[in-house]
Amino acid sequence: MVLQLNNHLTFSPSSGILGEEGEKGGFMSNTNIKILPNGPYLVEGEITLTDAAGQPVAIAKTPFALCRCGHSKAKPFCDGAHKGCGFEAA
Ligand code: FES
Repeated sequence: MVLQLNNHLTFSPSSGILGEEGEKGGFMSNTNIKILPNGPYLVEGEITLTDAAGQPVAIAKTPFALCRCGHSKAKPFCDGAHKGCGFEAA
């Protein structure tokens, strides 16, 4: 199972229990993605982040935040720019 966030990034668990794709009740254990109000996606747990070419993106620490506003200078990670750009989630 792979979660596709957008056309550029995908998530897949790097370890842990994974339900079969399409399996009722399938889940990724040990992984949580929280959508912060008018802010980034906060990602916790063991996870592999890959770019559009399928190459792993280095993750310095967990939890980590992924930019959702498009203004970060450290994409795909959030650098706090959403606070100053007036980003409002739909
Ligand atoms: S969501 Fe934080 S910089 Fe874009």
